Amino acid sequence: MKVIRTISEVRQEISRLRQSSGSGEATVGFVPTMGYLHEGHASLMRAAKEQSDIVVLSIFVNPIQFGPNEDFDSYPRDEARDVETARLQGVDIVFIPSVSEMYPEPTQTTVSVSQLTDRLCGASRPGHFDGVTTVVSKLFNIVQPQRAFFGMKDAQQVAVIQQMVNDLNMAVEIVPCPIVRESDGLALSSRNVYLSGEQREQALVLSQALRVAQETIDTNPSVTAADIREMLRKVIQASPLAVIDYSEIQAFPSLQPLADHEMVYGREDVLIALAVKFGKTRLIDNIKLHKS
Ligand code: PAJ
Repeated sequence: MKVIRTISEVRQEISRLRQSSGSGEATVGFVPTMGYLHEGHASLMRAAKEQSDIVVLSIFVNPIQFGPNEDFDSYPRDEARDVETARLQGVDIVFIPSVSEMYPEPTQTTVSVSQLTDRLCGASRPGHFDGVTTVVSKLFNIVQPQRAFFGMKDAQQVAVIQQMVNDLNMAVEIVPCPIVRESDGLALSSRNVYLSGEQREQALVLSQALRVAQETIDTNPSVTAADIREMLRKVIQASPLAVIDYSEIQAFPSLQPLADHEMVYGREDVLIALAVKFGKTRLIDNIKLHKS
């Protein structure tokens, strides 16, 4: 496994590996991350390994996707541990560019997806998705993968990236991968380290609310979107430290909110998505409905 920090070297190494793989048809699987890797990231690396000949992982805390009052400076970082995690998963290249390597001059070009980015995390984090789509476009141009692996933990990110790839005819297949959770249900996130003991306990309310919603839907053919919205709010607000940013039920991947009277029983095109703050830490979680 090679750790590479410059764009020119990563291009060279990918091209060398593709040529030396024999057929010349070797596929590149790409996993973009911001590091502080956990089992959720590792699951993407494993999926990439299964579905590609060469696996490239990027670690880059992308400043342009953080708002001025967000946690760019304090975002957790542990390069040595990340490199070890990547090695254990059989990654071929870890690309760790500096901010000046990725943005040598102020950027004048932005890749921006409209509509899909107006809601949910886009509404509470203005400019966030422009930062994501811009950096992911740059990384796709650098790595030129056949497949790129993204976690459904960030379901809106998956929808936005897929839209960008469709709209701009990018020759990459987006592979969405399931959410990895702690044994008690909390979705793994690099930001979970910010939680105090008490916040960590109460953070379970996100996965609990999603589970209750799925169970309610499975057992009530007449349940409506409005019922689910009310139920989610009640369950989450029972935790005194939880402050709801959003709690929504919408079609996926269009992210169109369901009308209050819409029935949800038996539907598989529906995403329930939550963002809840505990102190300064904002946690997200979601569930794509499935038939029971
Ligand atoms: P980051 O938050 O590091 O996440 C990298 C990838 O890991 C994303 O596709 C995310 O959805 C996935 N992931 C995170 N937690 C997960 C979990 N519990 N289960 C499954 N997958 C999980 O998302 C980003 O970085 C950035 O926005 C990025 C795409 C790298 C652009 O900067």
